[in-house]
Amino acid sequence: MARGRLITIEGIDGAGKTTLARALAEAIAARETAVELLREPGGVETSERIRALVKDPALAVSPRAEALLYAAARAQLVHERVEPLLDAGTCVLLDRYVDSSLAYQGAARGLGVEAVREINRFATGRLEPDRTLLLRISAADGRARQADRGELPDRLEQEHESFFAEIATAYDELAAAEPERIRVLDASATPARVLFDALEQIADLI
Ligand code: TYD
Repeated sequence: MARGRLITIEGIDGAGKTTLARALAEAIAARETAVELLREPGGVETSERIRALVKDPALAVSPRAEALLYAAARAQLVHERVEPLLDAGTCVLLDRYVDSSLAYQGAARGLGVEAVREINRFATGRLEPDRTLLLRISAADGRARQADRGELPDRLEQEHESFFAEIATAYDELAAAEPERIRVLDASATPARVLFDALEQIADLI
């Protein structure tokens, strides 16, 4: 049986990743391809508990601890769900993956992209996405969308706009370095348009 494809969705908070991920999962399923949508951090019980911990505004979490917690959540998800699904031929859609850590912890927290890449190679056993869809939106627009949702900000969302601008820049640099894997989508477009563009960028895989 052919191994499943791993497709990841990335972008700053408020870019619309979750909306796209759901629509994409439906569109892929409609083509009679087995598909599973998972989110990071989370997706399995151990990782969901790490998620609650790492997002808690009441906790102090140092940058290095933060990077390791995200990597630990990812290690468990890959081991417990992602690898078995890929082996079974299922297409796995991941709402965030290693590039989130490279941008948030490596760049914005200042740990260094290469250092964070290294711990994630260990965490994932070097599992790389077949394709990554980067939803590009300005930090200001991302902020505005988040505010519209009316949810209380979690520990990371409480950061200043400059933090998200740094993340956006880091994502652009990652995309420029790997244009074949990382495809950039204009996230300021309508959800239908973003879905259309996303399907175009993964047409060769599904
Ligand atoms: P989540 O609620 O998934 O964010 P959103 O739904 O807004 O995309 O929360 C994940 C938060 O954790 C988000 O602020 C980004 C951050 N994060 C990292 O800093 N590093 C990582 O490796 C991952 C996966 C997420």
